[in-house]
Amino acid sequence: MALPANQPRALSFDAVAAQYAATRPDYPPALFDAMEELTGRPLADADVLDCGAGTGIATRLLRERGARVVAMEPGAGMAAELRRAEPEVLLVRGEGNHLPFAAGSFDVVAYAQAWHWTDPVHSVPEALRVLRPGGVLALWWNQADIRVPWVAAEEDRLAPFTRGFPTTVAESFAPFPVRVATREITWSRRITIEEHIRNLATHSHFVVMDPAERTHLLGANGTALARLFPDGELDEPYRCGLTVVRPAAAQG
Ligand SMILES: C[S@@+](CC[C@H](N)C(=O)[O-])C[C@H]1O[C@@H](n2cnc3c(N)ncnc32)[C@H](O)[C@@H]1O
Repeated sequence: MALPANQPRALSFDAVAAQYAATRPDYPPALFDAMEELTGRPLADADVLDCGAGTGIATRLLRERGARVVAMEPGAGMAAELRRAEPEVLLVRGEGNHLPFAAGSFDVVAYAQAWHWTDPVHSVPEALRVLRPGGVLALWWNQADIRVPWVAAEEDRLAPFTRGFPTTVAESFAPFPVRVATREITWSRRITIEEHIRNLATHSHFVVMDPAERTHLLGANGTALARLFPDGELDEPYRCGLTVVRPAAAQG
């Protein structure tokens, strides 16, 4: 299992896997409603491959919708958390550029917050190969909603030290004979400032940062937030973007 050399942060999550499991947000129910609408089929009884499954956040939610889920994860630390959280799920160690599955195995290939770690030149044909006729590739991300003023201010404070990923993924699919549909769901969760900071610390740019610099930056950010939210809690707002991709020849 070889990961692309241009993705040095791809496995950085292993170092913070327990914190990731404890602090990263779920995905909203409306995301899965949108997925069922765009795919034209229920998740119940669908065979779903959760690629880059991490600690199993999406695996758990897909199973709650009745899907039969196979989880695939390259990182040892993340995989160990997933095994703890979802012991009865089949977990395969592998990565999206070389899927270790037979052609035509799944109704849905899902990437939650993980597609950007693959090389689409390889991961698109691989995903299409393992789909059954009528199957779809579904990708989604929770992105901090910078239309909310305190999030925009935080982004300004931290942006010089972080590097984001593109919010649109349609370009990855331009060379391939596929049809792409997108949806966006806005949602939020109420958490403490401390939980928010611990969640930020699991983002790869902070994981790989010099520890003293990370402590300083996130500490200063926490101080700024405490001035805005004196009761110590905030609504962490998200735009959850969903992209559903299907072979161009497929109907529906
Ligand atoms: C931000 S985490 C997302 C985890 C989980 N899907 C979730 O929703 O929380 C990204 C995951 O992608 C995994 N990953 C890194 N490179 C990958 C690749 N080439 N193919 C599949 N997964 C990869 C990482 O190990 C990590 O667990």
